[in-house]
Amino acid sequence: MPQRCFGEEELANLREVIESGELWRGVRGKFVGRFEDEFGQWLGRKYVLGICSGTCAEETAVASLGLELGDEVICPASAPIFVSFPVISVGCVPVFADVDPRTLIISPEGIEARITERTRAVLVVHLWGTPAPMDEIMAVAQRHNLKVIEDCAQAYGACHRGRKVGTIGDVACFSLQQSKHITAGEGGIIATDDPEIYKRAVLFSNVGMPWLYQYGLEQPTSEPLNGLRRRGHFAFGHNYRMSELQGAVMVAQLAKLPEFNARRKKLVEIIETELGDVPGVELAHVYPNTEPNFWIYPLRVPEALGDYAEINYLEAEFQKMQRTRRTSLGIPLPDYVQYKPGECPQAEAASKGFGGIDVSHATDPEDMRQAARNIREKADKLSG
Ligand SMILES: Cc1ncc(COP(=O)(O)O)c(C=O)c1O
Repeated sequence: MPQRCFGEEELANLREVIESGELWRGVRGKFVGRFEDEFGQWLGRKYVLGICSGTCAEETAVASLGLELGDEVICPASAPIFVSFPVISVGCVPVFADVDPRTLIISPEGIEARITERTRAVLVVHLWGTPAPMDEIMAVAQRHNLKVIEDCAQAYGACHRGRKVGTIGDVACFSLQQSKHITAGEGGIIATDDPEIYKRAVLFSNVGMPWLYQYGLEQPTSEPLNGLRRRGHFAFGHNYRMSELQGAVMVAQLAKLPEFNARRKKLVEIIETELGDVPGVELAHVYPNTEPNFWIYPLRVPEALGDYAEINYLEAEFQKMQRTRRTSLGIPLPDYVQYKPGECPQAEAASKGFGGIDVSHATDPEDMRQAARNIREKADKLSG
């Protein structure tokens, strides 16, 4: 198991929470509210909401757009399934678009080819920590009046034209799961500049109640109905709140992010030095005007060394939806939505030749050198 760089700072904050006796955030929470403010300052977004996991953050992000049942959301063919399941769970239909074979990131052409009159949004994943080509993607979205969700779970601090990813689309989501750049074991974040998106995100993640609003937004009031008092659940929602225990760890982790990122960059230098001239191995492709911050370093390798296996529509639940012609929630699939092999040929072909090296900031540089050398050795053997 990797070390995760937790220390006295996390322990001190956790002790404070436990001694206070208040482990849930209540309205704001001492640590969750502070984390939301500090994350917003770090990222450069006005409204930030702590959520209990990255998958719930993704679902909240889709729900925050106010879409209708059966609306289509374009998703990358190759990405963790946490990206497309949340689309299903809010009653929408995931439509998979092909990717750039150099990065497995959704391509502007792939998006354009999937747009129909029911398309409302595009979900862009900055996969591996590589910023997506956002100029081209935003241009397609603007032409077709689509909302853009940025999934930044793997890309804390990666930049596009000097702006951090998560500040370009309409709403961004992040994961704080154990393996991520910063972590509380589990956790997630929503970030936006749009007060309406933020309000919908609060209602959805707080059982329809607005009392998590901060940043000076006015709260609706609940009038009695037929003379009976109401609690004030203004919309459908889940309880996806972040706890104070998570907030306490995250305040400490966020302060360490610059140091963690610097360590990751050194590990990336080792990989690129060791593997820069190996036959059959290609280093990460980085789009112009972007700066990655790798979570896993992507390598294009001979098929025998590839281990990437995240084409969502090949998974069992999508195969069931293909047979029944309904989503898992019973929403009918239009004829043109297909979840079958061959749908996104670039993703299918390219994924066979992708491998990744975990560049966790806790990795010892010598271990990283050795891991890279192991790949080099295997690739050398294959090339004869
Ligand atoms: C790109 C991406 N999106 C979403 C998630 C979901 O996050 P979580 O595991 O916190 O639910 C992950 C987690 O691995 C991820 O890598």
